[in-house]
Amino acid sequence: MKRIAVIGSTGSIGVNTLRVAESHPKQFRVEVLAAGRNGKLLFDQIRRFQPSLACLYDRESAEALSGKLRGSRTRIVWGDKGLREAAGFSRSELAVFAMVGAKGLVPLVTAIQSGKDIAFANKEPFVIAGELIRSLSGKYGVTMVPIDSELSAIFQCLQGRKAGEAKRIILTSSGGPFRKFSKTALSKATVREALRHPRWKMGRKITIDSATLMNKALEVIETANFFDVSAEKVEVLIHPEAIVHSLVEWRDGSHLAQLGVTDMRLPIQYAMSYPERLPAADGIPPLRLEKIRALSFEKPDRGRFPCLRLGYEAQKAGGTMPAVLNAANEVAVDCFLNGKISFTDIPRKIGKLMRRHRVVTSPSLEDVLHADRWARENFS
Ligand SMILES: NC(=O)c1ccc[n+]([C@@H]2O[C@H](COP(=O)([O-])OP(=O)(O)OC[C@H]3O[C@@H](n4cnc5c(N)ncnc54)[C@H](OP(=O)(O)O)[C@@H]3O)[C@@H](O)[C@H]2O)c1
Repeated sequence: MKRIAVIGSTGSIGVNTLRVAESHPKQFRVEVLAAGRNGKLLFDQIRRFQPSLACLYDRESAEALSGKLRGSRTRIVWGDKGLREAAGFSRSELAVFAMVGAKGLVPLVTAIQSGKDIAFANKEPFVIAGELIRSLSGKYGVTMVPIDSELSAIFQCLQGRKAGEAKRIILTSSGGPFRKFSKTALSKATVREALRHPRWKMGRKITIDSATLMNKALEVIETANFFDVSAEKVEVLIHPEAIVHSLVEWRDGSHLAQLGVTDMRLPIQYAMSYPERLPAADGIPPLRLEKIRALSFEKPDRGRFPCLRLGYEAQKAGGTMPAVLNAANEVAVDCFLNGKISFTDIPRKIGKLMRRHRVVTSPSLEDVLHADRWARENFS
């Protein structure tokens, strides 16, 4: 029985993590739940899973939740302190990071320093502070397994070998809702259109990132940082069927790929049960290869989707630049979702801010957090 903490339990990944836990009650016990503001869903989750600790980041909502749970065995905490307590809770063994954004970095560091094994979907901390996280996980001897379907695919293809031995790592992308849009059509793209992803049902931020291809840019950096390879080795191919989740090419020309249905419970469960493989969670359909008539691949168009180029540039600049790229993107996506900027303003404004940034090389945690703040304050 593995005791788990789900950090970001009310979001798309968090809810799917709990569905996996429910499918395997003998393997997983939910000790901790943490969310941002959704007290209603957290309340339901607490009633279902009876965790020892639950954190609701927003204090007012947490106090209201506490009132509703009087007499329950679950202790409620809130704010930065509460979130750190949830991430490092003594009785959990595995922390599943399902939060969104760079704000996951500090609780992630706390979880590592508390010796928790980590299953992570929250990619932004790996983008902004990958080297730091890698060295901390080595120091504290924790196992880290990715949940993101592309990184999970690479992790599975690499089993037993070092990423440095691979000739190429190929990340696949469905291409998002605007794969066939012209530049002019992109400049007029609406929030509704951008939120209509053709393959995956995900949170709002990552859905917009998928439409701009910033999600792929973040994954290029995440892959380079997590597997400790140069971003030049990491390529992106558009694969609209989203069946091949990513590939590794070896120097003898052989390619290994991981295939599966588009259901995040698959990589979530693998990361939770690693190194074991458990039977598929309830309700996951089998992959019927005979029903897939073709698997197609094409190169992404960096002219129409400049975010991809910005990702490679940020990683090449190194140091604090990925933190600036990421923070500028978080603000830009928020502005787009709130109707303040257009779809094509997103890469334009990120690029503008990156050109103003003075990179700090080999940054400390404080340098990274400072660059993140600088980007948010100077975004215009
Ligand atoms: N969704 C996918 O299929 C998918 C696939 C691959 C990778 N990812 C990555 O996984 C991460 C999560 O994505 P998502 O789509 O699940 O996002 P989401 O649906 O927006 O969920 C985000 C979660 O984070 C919580 N949260 C926000 N601020 C918090 C805070 N200060 N303290 C504690 N919890 C907080 C939210 O709580 P409230 O709702 O209560 O505010 C929610 O539970 C992202 O980094 C994304 O890039 C997602």
